[in-house]
Amino acid sequence: MYSINKLTMKKIFVSALVALCGFTASYAQQASFLSNNHCLYRISQESQNQKCLLLPVQEDAEMANIKVIADNKQVKALNVKLAKDHVDYFVPLYMDEFAGLKGLALDIHVNGDYSKEGLNALTCWKEMKFSDAFDMKNREQYRPDFHHTPAYGWMNDPNGMFYKDGVWNLYFQYNPYGSVWGNMHWGHSVSKDLVHWEHLDPAIARDTLGHIFSGSAIVDKNNSAGYGENTIVAFYTSHRNIPGGQSQVQSMAYSTDNGRTYTKYEQNPVLTPFDGLQNFRDPKVFWYEPEQKWIMIVSADKNMRFYSSANLKQWEYMSEFGEGFGPQPNQFECPDFIQLPVDGDRSKMKWVMIVNINPGFVYGGSGTMYFVGDFDGHRFVCDTKPEVVKWLDWGKDHYATVTWSNAPAGRTIALAWMSNWQYANYTPIQQFRSANALPRELSLYTGEDKQLYLSAAPVKETENLRKDSKKLDDFTVNGEKRFETLFENNDGAFELELQLTSAGKEAGFELLNSLGEKVRIYLDAAEGRVVMDRAESGIVDFGKKVKPHDLDTEESYARYKEVTVNYKNDFALGTWAPINTAKGHKVQVFVDNGSVELFVDGGRVAMTNLVFPNEPYNSLRFYSEGGEMKISDFTIYKLGL
Ligand code: FRU
Repeated sequence: MYSINKLTMKKIFVSALVALCGFTASYAQQASFLSNNHCLYRISQESQNQKCLLLPVQEDAEMANIKVIADNKQVKALNVKLAKDHVDYFVPLYMDEFAGLKGLALDIHVNGDYSKEGLNALTCWKEMKFSDAFDMKNREQYRPDFHHTPAYGWMNDPNGMFYKDGVWNLYFQYNPYGSVWGNMHWGHSVSKDLVHWEHLDPAIARDTLGHIFSGSAIVDKNNSAGYGENTIVAFYTSHRNIPGGQSQVQSMAYSTDNGRTYTKYEQNPVLTPFDGLQNFRDPKVFWYEPEQKWIMIVSADKNMRFYSSANLKQWEYMSEFGEGFGPQPNQFECPDFIQLPVDGDRSKMKWVMIVNINPGFVYGGSGTMYFVGDFDGHRFVCDTKPEVVKWLDWGKDHYATVTWSNAPAGRTIALAWMSNWQYANYTPIQQFRSANALPRELSLYTGEDKQLYLSAAPVKETENLRKDSKKLDDFTVNGEKRFETLFENNDGAFELELQLTSAGKEAGFELLNSLGEKVRIYLDAAEGRVVMDRAESGIVDFGKKVKPHDLDTEESYARYKEVTVNYKNDFALGTWAPINTAKGHKVQVFVDNGSVELFVDGGRVAMTNLVFPNEPYNSLRFYSEGGEMKISDFTIYKLGL
């Protein structure tokens, strides 16, 4: 009762304000300042006919919580860091979302103390404007040439990836209202070859159950859910801040137009935690053929919970896996579960549980680990002891890795977000934030210690990116050898492919630019490891201290502290991976604006690191210490779309 009364009173209050408040500033005809933190911004019918309202963003400003109101009812909520004293960039609020609605207004609550200067002193009111266009042309030096990024806004985890009728669908955690985390939607892009991507409209938008967090999607071939054969059914976490914490429940949406648009299931959520767990998210759903049932895995704090279902709507708890496995303490996120042949032999299949953890990665922050074992349709049993940790990628920027469902030809293709929660919100980029790593083909092989490992090789479609190639003669180095200008007009995107055989102590090469910025990649024979060092790669101390994340309520806002990134420890460093004892290794390096991806021996070692050089790397310095290194089968490819 109380809440109904409160709601009714609030409505009356808002309508009274709409009716009574005069305009307080001539430069902002639509803005009425109701208190030092509260502004009502009316949208006329004429403005509503324009394409979008451009909202000015300042990344280090306080967060504004905006409710879109029509006819005194809230129709949408979004959080935007509205410009305080300067504009970093604009984000569009598209008016077609509100087509047919009357009495449109933004009810804006700006966090922070404006009692001295007054709320009307903020720059945002002058800069907010309606427009028939939103300019998405790239403005960024570090926009990758060949990796997927959103055109603008923030991106984190890949979500709900499925393949159907020749199209690879990629959804992703997306904030269309700023280049920091928040306002979680499922953004959407599609590709016919995994390397050329087309941006589509976001597919699933934040609603009253909360943000649309990560999840998965399946092709419902047998019409289990009752929406028709081959309907796409997506599962995601509805996340809300609630007094004293957060609520995470699993929701469902279906699409009858091949994933372009979704209808949310009217009885959402489909799964809530039986014990009120607050970290309960990222549902991965797959078909278990032997028992003709659907299985859902949900990350549950430091564990993964397994559920099963016949109709995709009712889920029954089966078992859990993971407590005590991997580095401690850790937060399990974004599970995936795949079955793969051992060493290519389809008569020997094993299950692999992919667990993304944050924090806990060997070099800090977020990383993807995996566990190999057996599954009987109910319970997963890992082959190795809890303390045995295997990493899918040994670089700092390969997180939230999950695979495409329904991939053709028995392929298992994984995709990751190319960043790390330690600094993802602060990278020196503004128009968009972050890219995906290259998609990778996963397979299982037996290592020298007889254990099973995942190999993650760049998909063969990356060859579609090769525009030009230079084959170099074989050479040996005992000391150093340089290649000065790799390309005349280097835009920063290229691939190196070579065979490196070393009898030395340390042997490898540096990617260099004329400013002396470099990334060093080398074999360290004494330690039996391969290293990528980005300590001097370019900008390594980027960013300022800003309040991160999206804040729904004053309480959640108050819970956040200023985050300090320790760049020396968190970014300016080298990462390394153990490597087998062979003297010769196949090495592939993909360099793009903002990243270096290393693959050794066809993906047996994968290592992905962000880099921000002040100009593209355009020369190579090979070196060998304590013995001779031979480079053979060496080709340099210019890459582009
Ligand atoms: C992983 C993650 C997920 C969550 C999503 C929110 O990076 O924390 O667990 O669903 O991001 O954006």
